[in-house]
Amino acid sequence: MKKKIMTVFGTRPEAIKMAPVVKQLIADEQTTPVTVVTGQHREMLKQVLDFFQIKPDYDLAIMEKSQSLEQITSKVLLGLAPILQQEQPDLVLVHGDTTTTMAASLSAFYHHIPIGHVEAGLRTWNLASPFPEEANRQITDDLTSLYFAPTDLSRQNLLQEHHPADRIFVTGNTAIDALKYTVNREYHHQVLDQIPDDHRLILLTMHRRENQGVPMVNVFRAVREVAQADPKLDVIYPVHLSPKVQELAHQAFDGIKNVHLIAPLDVVDFHNLAAHSYFIMTDSGGVQEEAPSLNKPVLVLRDTTERPEGVKAGTLKLVGTKSADVKTAMLTLLNDDQQYQQMAKAKNPYGDGHAAERIVDQCNQFLTQDII
Ligand code: UD1
Ligand code: UDP
Repeated sequence: MKKKIMTVFGTRPEAIKMAPVVKQLIADEQTTPVTVVTGQHREMLKQVLDFFQIKPDYDLAIMEKSQSLEQITSKVLLGLAPILQQEQPDLVLVHGDTTTTMAASLSAFYHHIPIGHVEAGLRTWNLASPFPEEANRQITDDLTSLYFAPTDLSRQNLLQEHHPADRIFVTGNTAIDALKYTVNREYHHQVLDQIPDDHRLILLTMHRRENQGVPMVNVFRAVREVAQADPKLDVIYPVHLSPKVQELAHQAFDGIKNVHLIAPLDVVDFHNLAAHSYFIMTDSGGVQEEAPSLNKPVLVLRDTTERPEGVKAGTLKLVGTKSADVKTAMLTLLNDDQQYQQMAKAKNPYGDGHAAERIVDQCNQFLTQDII
């Protein structure tokens, strides 16, 4: 009999990285897929679902303006319970480290349903950074039965916490699978058409809760000063819809001609603009994984990263959020071609684009072994 595998996700990055898994499950003859979105994000989630043509079976539609962590957690728990009861899945797949991920895992655990964690084992070992994601992923891994570690290092992290070795599979990151659907050499975008050929383009994203406040103000000051000093530079910042982020971005950049604040891009636009950029500045997790595949240096606007593979490979530079450090790092990439090339040519450590196939294979093996 076919086994029922339920995927649960709620935010933009989870959707982008779960889409290849959902596609693989739909194509797989041994499984019956059920797709549940919590709707922790609304517009930013819809952009991804539309592109990948994923029609969820259930949408909890929980998003509220400036929502609290308590609201997300409690609404996911209460919303998922009747769905789990009705569907009785054999396995629930979650992704990464959002509050949807943690609450969905807790919900599956309460219903005695095994959990597969895609992108398991990432750690900073610092519960304050990123907040609350480090706690979310540790809690999720404590409840998980099947661990899909993107890299060998994330496998080591799980072993260090005494998770069972025979349940941990190194698959690569599904972010790299997603790029196969989106990046297109013939791509054109109106923003690109407006930028003269001799200008260099920096793509900026910044949204994390722990950066909302002084860290963002400091980073934005550095970006503003570098942009104002170099008219042949264009900074494109698709601003996250979080009201606090919107406020800080507009305060810092309104009136600066070569800093372009735009709405969140759909995933095709974002990946292709990234591919056309000179370099990327971000505090995003997913962008740190994608950029090495696109041969783009990344300045990471955080003090910690759970993705040290990219730092070691030389493609990511952890610059923190102090104005002077950010400015120095930007000017180095703009003026020192040797350093730029070293970062741009570093090897992508996050996988070969076949992670989703490995994940679905392992789910099938697990579900037919009868060892739950
Ligand atoms: C969430 C995740 C974070 C992830 C990020 C990806 C948690 C606690 N945080 O943070 O790990 O890196 O998503 O982007 O799980 N909003 C909209 N429309 C949208 C999305 C958001 O208006 O489509 C606004 C709403 O006012 C919402 C606010 O943004 O309340 C914050 O959204 P939320 O999901 O709570 O936090 P993020 O900062 O997006
Ligand atoms: N992304 C997007 N549009 C944007 C900005 C980012 O599609 O305007 C994509 C990006 O390619 C990556 C993901 O969103 O796959 C990262 O999401 P985000 O930065 O919101 O979350 P994080 O990865 O930090 O959890």
